[in-house]
Amino acid sequence: MISTANVGIAVAFWKCNNNCKYMAYKHLKFPQGSLFLVTGGAGFIGSNLCEAILNLGYKVRCLDDLSTGKQANVDMLLSNPDYEFIYGDIKNLDSCMVACKGVD
Ligand SMILES: NC(=O)c1ccc[n+]([C@@H]2O[C@H](COP(=O)([O-])OP(=O)(O)OC[C@H]3O[C@@H](n4cnc5c(N)ncnc54)[C@H](O)[C@@H]3O)[C@@H](O)[C@H]2O)c1
Repeated sequence: MISTANVGIAVAFWKCNNNCKYMAYKHLKFPQGSLFLVTGGAGFIGSNLCEAILNLGYKVRCLDDLSTGKQANVDMLLSNPDYEFIYGDIKNLDSCMVACKGVD
């Protein structure tokens, strides 16, 4: 799953078809061990998205150039073995190729 922060927020309001009015992101199911790429994952929205995906039990790779994001947002997740941080610019093809490798 390749996900930007905004897609993640949109998914949180995804309409549910099993009687609940709206489906929370916590109800989403992906194959066990799925690896998500969160671009901008050191930012405000992105770091919360990383944390939410990890809390669902999936793996997260964060790509961020720390231009406006915070190292602290990365540091708080680094102890989680399912979290990986790649410092890089999404405008750089090589960085993107590395970041996308193995992503579901
Ligand atoms: N309420 C709060 O406490 C709070 C805190 C922070 C931000 N905000 C607001 O929330 C809004 C949304 O914040 P956001 O998360 O969208 O912004 P953000 O700047 O926090 O996140 C964007 C992320 O993308 C990264 N990035 C930018 N260009 C990149 C590139 N070329 N390659 C790789 N990474 C790149 C940045 O380093 C950053 O980590 C903003 O308007 C902000 O003002 C609120």
